[in-house]
Amino acid sequence: MFIFLFTLTIGFLFIIFIVYKQFKNQAQQNRKLFFEKLSNYKSDSRPLIIGFFHPYCNAGGGGERVLWTSIKSIQTKYQNVICVVYTGDIDVTKDEILEKVMSRFSIKLDPDNLFFIFLNKRKWVEDVRYPRFTLLGQSLGSTILGFEALKKLTPDFYFDTMGYAFTYPLAKKIFGCKIGAYVHYPTISSDMLSKVQEMRPGFNNDQLIARSRILSAGKLLYYRVFAYLYSLAGSFSDIVMVNSTWTKGHIDQLWGVNSKIVYPPCDTASLTKLPLEDRQRIIVSVAQFRPEKDHQLQLQSLSCLLSNYPNFQQGPEKIELILIGGSRNEDDKDRIQKLKELCKKLNIEDNVTFEVNASFEKLVYWLSKAKIGLHTMWNEHFGIVVVEYMAAGLIPVAHNSGGPKMDIVIPYNDNITGYLASTSEEFATKIANVFSLSEEKYKNMQINARENVIGKFSESVFQELILNLLDPILQENSN
Ligand SMILES: *[C@@H]1O[C@H](CO)[C@@H](O)[C@H](O)[C@H]1NC(C)=O
Ligand SMILES: *[C@@H]1O[C@H](CO)[C@@H](O)[C@H](O)[C@H]1NC(C)=O
Ligand SMILES: *[C@@H]1O[C@H](CO)[C@@H](O)[C@H](O)[C@H]1NC(C)=O
Ligand SMILES: *[C@@H]1O[C@H](CO)[C@@H](O)[C@H](O)[C@H]1NC(C)=O
Repeated sequence: MFIFLFTLTIGFLFIIFIVYKQFKNQAQQNRKLFFEKLSNYKSDSRPLIIGFFHPYCNAGGGGERVLWTSIKSIQTKYQNVICVVYTGDIDVTKDEILEKVMSRFSIKLDPDNLFFIFLNKRKWVEDVRYPRFTLLGQSLGSTILGFEALKKLTPDFYFDTMGYAFTYPLAKKIFGCKIGAYVHYPTISSDMLSKVQEMRPGFNNDQLIARSRILSAGKLLYYRVFAYLYSLAGSFSDIVMVNSTWTKGHIDQLWGVNSKIVYPPCDTASLTKLPLEDRQRIIVSVAQFRPEKDHQLQLQSLSCLLSNYPNFQQGPEKIELILIGGSRNEDDKDRIQKLKELCKKLNIEDNVTFEVNASFEKLVYWLSKAKIGLHTMWNEHFGIVVVEYMAAGLIPVAHNSGGPKMDIVIPYNDNITGYLASTSEEFATKIANVFSLSEEKYKNMQINARENVIGKFSESVFQELILNLLDPILQENSN
């Protein structure tokens, strides 16, 4: 019996070894072929391949801006580095992708040392495939996709920009790559665990499970095991970047690393050209009409301001709150209706304007006229709208939590750049503060706010930071 098991194990290991060798040979072959095709390549030193694992590279969202800006940065500094993007967008061509990058982000990439490896196995990471155990299913699925990528062309440096941590052990141990990660969002977070633990329903926890003790315990165990595997996978990384303080907190704790914050580049260039002068007592709120944005709090704050600060009633000009946001469906429409009713009830309807589905021109118009940018969402992970307010020359009055508190509304050279508040009374007080500032003080704060966001969130800062972090790896092969 023992001998039988022993032989079986050895046989099994032998088969794995053969398969592994086979794949490794194929991967090496593919790499050689790739270099041969590069024969017209200008540099005499051996080029270094940096592979970006980004299966949805044609999506055109914030994560893609990070991807293309990183590639642009590398192309401008290193002539002998070849960028490769692994993507599952098999219905488009390289030219089409590059065109979209240009039209969507105004980023012009050099096509000569940028290559695309098209992957056919993306269906393995789609969530519809795993109605149950979605996290685990997608994560294991990502190793299949990662395998396809690494076999088709093994890079020297494997850079995951979409958060597929389960591919790192594979890339590092089997294919011998160095590993970089840019993490937008942890795959599992302590927030998700506590939601299950406290048996609260939510997007990751449905009613049925929230109601049952046994199911909740089972799910908690599953999450714990998953979190453990996620930490294990993440610890294979060599360089870890995160997109915010919130993400850093979770990733450092889970992976046991000291990640670097590299804020995604925000496109604020046009807003920073708006004049700082000629601002009226207008408060702007830019937010989708969704419940978590908490428009009620904005209306209550205005009501509080108008009733608690009677001297504003006789101010030099009218106080106005402009609510700018899109209405995409019936629910949004109902919410807008309810907000209008609340305005009547609070007796502030003359001082509130709804700009539903405003055009970009209209948005910029209000941003150039108003003094204050209002933000009331609790615990928003970032809050790009607050960055936009500050770039546009408004003083933010934002919720005292999440990204606005940790990353955005923070002093610049020891000078404050805006205000934070939680309750309607606090919001009213902070708004009153801004309106009471002398012209000179107001202008100084505007300058500080604008400089702060340019200095932290602009494209050039992103480029500098990411190149600094990649330098040790890219330098290695550059001579
Ligand atoms: C980080 O990524 C998450 C997920 O895409 C996003 O919600 C958040 O706003 C991002 N943070 C920054 C600073 O852009
Ligand atoms: C509110 O709007 C009304 C009507 O336009 C205006 O008369 C009043 O002065 C406004 N209140 C403040 C405090 O500006
Ligand atoms: C806003 O746009 C959506 C579609 O994008 C439309 O359904 C809705 O009716 C519009 N609402 C208003 C008030 O214009
Ligand atoms: C910022 O604060 C410093 C002192 O901390 C002061 O000297 C400087 O004038 C301030 N700058 C602005 C623009 O307010």
